[in-house]
Amino acid sequence: MMNSKVLPNKYALVTLALVAFACSLTSANDPSPLQDFCVAIDNHVSAVFVNEKFCKDPKLVIADDFFRSVNILGNTSNKVGLNVTAVTVEQLPGLNTLDISLAHIDFAPHGLNPPHTHPRSTEFLIVIEGTLHVGFVTSNADGNRLFTKVLNKRDVFVFPICFIHFQLNVGNTKAVAFAGLSNQNPGVITIANTIFGSNPPINQDVLTKAFQVDKNVVNYLQHQF
Ligand SMILES: *[C@@H]1O[C@H](CO)[C@@H](O)[C@H](O)[C@H]1NC(C)=O
Ligand SMILES: *[C@@H]1O[C@H](CO)[C@@H](O)[C@H](O)[C@H]1NC(C)=O
Repeated sequence: MMNSKVLPNKYALVTLALVAFACSLTSANDPSPLQDFCVAIDNHVSAVFVNEKFCKDPKLVIADDFFRSVNILGNTSNKVGLNVTAVTVEQLPGLNTLDISLAHIDFAPHGLNPPHTHPRSTEFLIVIEGTLHVGFVTSNADGNRLFTKVLNKRDVFVFPICFIHFQLNVGNTKAVAFAGLSNQNPGVITIANTIFGSNPPINQDVLTKAFQVDKNVVNYLQHQF
């Protein structure tokens, strides 16, 4: 960290306090559960209020509150050849307060999970079928380095929280992967849709300068989303 001996004590203490403050901010996370489970419920009538959430009365909790089948065939007939089936707290109320969720991802041959980021979650990807070219890009301070890998069946890869990442099916067959996510509600921000498909559209002067292209290119891209 730093050599506090070379600094007057007062400054060392202030610096340490700032470092501690920054660390406490960057390590902020979902609180640990205060109870065994808290199955999320919309109807408050038969619910108790625990850990800032309405939870289903534990006596009424059943196995199905913790169950969901992902034995599905995602329809990948779309522009990018992708279908993501999320299993977050929205689909599986038993995940509430447990800091974890999952996604089942179907890729058409050459299908793409376009560059995106999860604002609240690290992702752990495992390939079940097919071959994926995956990667993420580090922050500006780190020089925007690209970490990339080709994954085959049963290979895993980690995308650290917030980094922009992607997965491309480089095989001629379909591919399937599961993603484990470190939040019950990881969130997703798809870069192209966010930048070129915002509602209302971002001012074209912003986009032409940011991407160093002329208005026709921005126009074209905005029409794709
Ligand atoms: C994903 O696949 C499911 C099941 O086939 C389908 O109902 C859904 O519309 C698809 N989603 C997209 C975005 O294509
Ligand atoms: C898949 O989605 C496409 C486009 O929405 C649709 O035309 C097609 O019927 C769907 N296929 C199946 C098997 O549902």
